[in-house]
Amino acid sequence: MAIARALLVLLVATAQAWMPDTNARIEVKYGDETSEQFVGNAMEPDHFRILDKDDFSIIVGGRNTVYNLSLYDLSENTEQRLAWQSTDAHRELCQVKGKSADECQNYPRVVARTHKGLLVCGTNAFKPLCRRYGRQTHSSPLEEFDASGRCPYDPQHNSTAIYTNGQLYTATAADFSGTDPLIYREPVRTERSDLRLLNDPSFVGAIASTSHVYFFYRETAVEYMNCGKAVYSRIARICLNDKGGPHTFSDRWTSFLKTRLNCSIPGDYPFYFDEIQATTELINGVYGSGNSRNDIVYAVFTTPQNAIGGSAVCAFAMRDILEAFEGPFKGQESMNSNWLPLEKHKVPDPRPGTCVGDSRTLTDSAVNFIKTHPLMDRAVPSFLARPILIRVSLQYRFSAIAVHPQVQAMNGNKYDIMYVGTDDGRVIKAVNVASNEGEFDASVDEYSKSPVRTVVISEVQVLPQGMPIKQMHVALTTEKLIVASGDIIKAVTLSHCGNVRSCRECITLQDPHCAWDSKQQQCSWVGNRQFPNPERFLQNVEYGKTDICNKLPALMPGHSNKNPGTKKPKLSDTDDILNEIPIEVIENNVISEEKNTNNKHETDLLTVEAADGNIYSAQALLTAVVASCVVTLMVGFVIGYLFSRRFRHPFFTDTSPFNEQHNHLNRRSPLETPLNTNSGFIATRSKNVNMVANVGPLVKQDNLHLELGKERTLDLRNSTESLDKDLKCGTLQKVKKTYI
Ligand SMILES: *[C@@H]1O[C@H](CO)[C@@H](O)[C@H](O)[C@H]1NC(C)=O
Ligand SMILES: *[C@@H]1O[C@H](CO)[C@@H](O)[C@H](O)[C@H]1NC(C)=O
Ligand SMILES: *[C@@H]1O[C@H](CO)[C@@H](O)[C@H](O)[C@H]1NC(C)=O
Repeated sequence: MAIARALLVLLVATAQAWMPDTNARIEVKYGDETSEQFVGNAMEPDHFRILDKDDFSIIVGGRNTVYNLSLYDLSENTEQRLAWQSTDAHRELCQVKGKSADECQNYPRVVARTHKGLLVCGTNAFKPLCRRYGRQTHSSPLEEFDASGRCPYDPQHNSTAIYTNGQLYTATAADFSGTDPLIYREPVRTERSDLRLLNDPSFVGAIASTSHVYFFYRETAVEYMNCGKAVYSRIARICLNDKGGPHTFSDRWTSFLKTRLNCSIPGDYPFYFDEIQATTELINGVYGSGNSRNDIVYAVFTTPQNAIGGSAVCAFAMRDILEAFEGPFKGQESMNSNWLPLEKHKVPDPRPGTCVGDSRTLTDSAVNFIKTHPLMDRAVPSFLARPILIRVSLQYRFSAIAVHPQVQAMNGNKYDIMYVGTDDGRVIKAVNVASNEGEFDASVDEYSKSPVRTVVISEVQVLPQGMPIKQMHVALTTEKLIVASGDIIKAVTLSHCGNVRSCRECITLQDPHCAWDSKQQQCSWVGNRQFPNPERFLQNVEYGKTDICNKLPALMPGHSNKNPGTKKPKLSDTDDILNEIPIEVIENNVISEEKNTNNKHETDLLTVEAADGNIYSAQALLTAVVASCVVTLMVGFVIGYLFSRRFRHPFFTDTSPFNEQHNHLNRRSPLETPLNTNSGFIATRSKNVNMVANVGPLVKQDNLHLELGKERTLDLRNSTESLDKDLKCGTLQKVKKTYI
């Protein structure tokens, strides 16, 4: 356990080296603030999904019902409610096939407002069905048709749909068992059971441009040729005007291309967050100090379920996505050779994947090429070349994201404010305060200096602990954040300016939504508003420099009695300066640790803090590493001692108090190690013993590098990666035998 803990600490510490300051300035416990909520059917599961929205309302699919909810207070526009039950026959057949009574209901998963009226598709007790309604939704449907390929069978399936250009594009599964994934627009689909196209995908989102539809998903990576399997995140696209191919290809896409999304921490051995979980819509904004605009999409990524919980937010620029699709294709010489970039001369002309006038006139060879080469060679790099927010935690992973785009600060700069939902019901509000810095240098295709400096403004337990957030939406008109889980939808406030009372605390928030109102002497919501006398409002989003609070004593009469001595803000002046210099992270962290050690003793601190994904000091880290080394050595010594005793004095062992323990050691199978039985976070890996075997030298090696600041990160990553490989491929099996 000590070793597992040390390992976790190492990982957390590494994460801290990646991200200097991710402590939330404001933390709100569950139930500590009022919010509106909608529970639908209180007694039975609803599997809510937000299916559509306009400025003042959202459409939500629940159990046998489509709800229209007001974005002001989540009250239902009951006259718009649409009730739709499956027939008894459908429900019974569904249960006969082995599904539960709850699953055998109708859960609407697709709603589209078409020019003719409303299109609604539901799971209909595992027999998906679409209905077309006229303008009056409460009247009976005009038409009913099979929804296979448009709507999933299983209400929990990770499907996505987008209605654009007068047509419905869906990414879902077209069979009862969920084994026939497809991307579909009547009548064209992806090839059935071709693992090169879709390999056990989980779809998470879609966006449309004037010429293409893009789908975001994760899937088993066909190009991953090492032992074991890997899941990669993808973006795929199809042309809006794809009419299918010639002859036998008439109902198959001729423009389906996909590529990997690269959300990773750069380095000699990049650390990847490979599993995309959610995306935002396309956001158009100004980033960097120039005035160039970019279309970007934010997405949340996680490490695999069976790995230590790491989550990240990455953004992707449309420009980079297009570039990846213009780059080389990936190809494979034969079944077992590696996937490599295809040489130019092997690509037919016109280039496969470009949108052509009539795809049915394409040659067979062109269609065959794209069928066998749907994967691009280049991954889409993340915007700013690194994640914007990273968290390491045993307790939660990111599961949803919404962005309040381009919020204007008092100084005119614009910021995207991110709301990140987790699978344990909390919402993290963060902003990259450096998003207006850095010059994009087109010649080297990079920013001149690191433009990522993310601060976490607040962390709010919106849902009860353990309830995953499935979807989020920033309602601009009503200034609410909509948070949806399977059985409850909540509307909460976008900011917590009022939770802090002093000028210094208010400035330290670095929240573009909040500024210190020097007239009213309070921290006020200023988000996106224009004020006639902006000098009244103090704010410093970039650095949270609180000296502005002191500079204007005349303006602020109540200043002296509100300030330092009585209630100390979370960060001191020194911190503010340190925050600007990532190298100084360690010192900064020492301060935060001092605060904590007062009430918890050290080992507890390590676990508890790790669970929260909080900051560590180098000292705590060092102590943990040294402690686990010592423990390892001692255990080794004791075992060695016991063995030697047994072999020298066999008659002693019968009476020795260690006898039982010793026998127990002998009997224990390698799979019963405490690592495996107690801790869920590496549970499914069967070679945990190897890990123990490897940790000794690993820990020592990193220990040596501790003082070397930046180098430490590299080394750690290096070791984790090789450890990971070894685990996967089982190359450490021999080590195990000699060690034990
Ligand atoms: C919800 O109902 C209102 C009328 O009560 C309507 O104006 C609005 O468009 C509906 N919302 C959606 C997203 O269709
Ligand atoms: C859908 O996504 C959720 C969240 O990532 C995951 O837990 C679940 O296993 C996925 N469902 C399927 C059928 O893959
Ligand atoms: C992903 O990005 C990182 C950092 O920018 C880079 O080092 C790495 O090679 C990229 N990986 C792929 C597969 O393109």
